[in-house]
Amino acid sequence: MTSPEAREEAVLEAVRQRRELVNDAIPEELPIQRPERLYEASRYLLDAGGKRLRPTVLLTTAEALTDIDPLSVEYRSFAPLDESGPVDMMAAAVSVEVIQSFTLIHDDIMDDDDLRRGVPAVHKEYDLETAILAGDTLYSKAFEIMLETGAEPDRIVDALSVLATTCTDICEGQSLDVTFEERADVSPDEYLEMVEQKTAVLYAASACLPAILLGADDETIDELYGYGLDIGRAFQIQDDVLDLTVPSEELGKQRGSDLVENKQTLITVHAREQGVDIDGLVDTDDVDAVTEAEIDEAVAELEAAGSIAYANQTAQELVEQGKERLEVLPDNEARELLCEIAHYLIERGY
Ligand code: IPE
Ligand code: IPE
Ligand code: MG
Ligand code: MG
Ligand code: MG
Repeated sequence: MTSPEAREEAVLEAVRQRRELVNDAIPEELPIQRPERLYEASRYLLDAGGKRLRPTVLLTTAEALTDIDPLSVEYRSFAPLDESGPVDMMAAAVSVEVIQSFTLIHDDIMDDDDLRRGVPAVHKEYDLETAILAGDTLYSKAFEIMLETGAEPDRIVDALSVLATTCTDICEGQSLDVTFEERADVSPDEYLEMVEQKTAVLYAASACLPAILLGADDETIDELYGYGLDIGRAFQIQDDVLDLTVPSEELGKQRGSDLVENKQTLITVHAREQGVDIDGLVDTDDVDAVTEAEIDEAVAELEAAGSIAYANQTAQELVEQGKERLEVLPDNEARELLCEIAHYLIERGY
């Protein structure tokens, strides 16, 4: 039996390997061109770091479908399930990471957050105009990059369709997230619907895009999409927990931002149902003014209401549900890694 520590080490190493491949591909897919300031601002967060979890899910799903060796030199080039030509899966992987960066740039403007991936947010390092444009540029570049996979034309159309719907969903989810700030009666189901749209759909797209591009059947595509939705919702629940519990320096973004912005999370929704005065937890609407002691006190109250345990439990259930959908894949090492990644999404510390 492998120890939990050894399993965690193995998943971290597998994620690191794929992250480095994605990091190498980003400058190739998104070179700095004129006007330089726009492209530098567009690449700024991509170059600052990031866990690259969505492209890692995408590449690992592609591995599971094709049984390719992740360390082989031909790793970019994946053989479809029929006789058609090879698919450049790294282009698809970079495309979803580019979407991720676009949403982060605009999210930090909306959430009034100044720190991202351990560096100033794009609207702080540059200015608001440049940040809006950098986000827009990344949004459309993602589609251009997805067009470069070399897959069969009908599969490319399907992939672009998934990407477009995903972006629409993210905007709808982000809109709900913002309007929820003004409400004190959001239910757990409404929260789960909101995070499905703002966050989980990009995991869902990442998991099912290889199946589309490689010509898998509809059942495989649907189950992989469902896996992504489940683990993506679990991921966002953990993100909300980390916002409360992890220091800004480790998180690379500002601790306590959700409380200051009056965000509705599964934790606050549950606590309110237990009678906790959520609006009284912090006094300020300025994330720079909130103190560590204030956040610690709020966390203690949320813990006492059982709300953090409730969020952890819900995330755990979603991960178990998501893993079951992987039965549709061949039984191989990459499928095992997709199970491990699902756990990692809720066990990670940043
Ligand atoms: C942050 O995602 C945005 C959310 C949906 C919560 P990540 O935590 O994956 O951020 P990076 O890409 O690693 O910076
Ligand atoms: C972001 O959710 C979802 C996106 C679509 C970017 P959050 O607002 O919780 O993400 P962080 O915590 O700022 O990364
Ligand atoms: Mg945010
Ligand atoms: Mg947000
Ligand atoms: Mg967050």
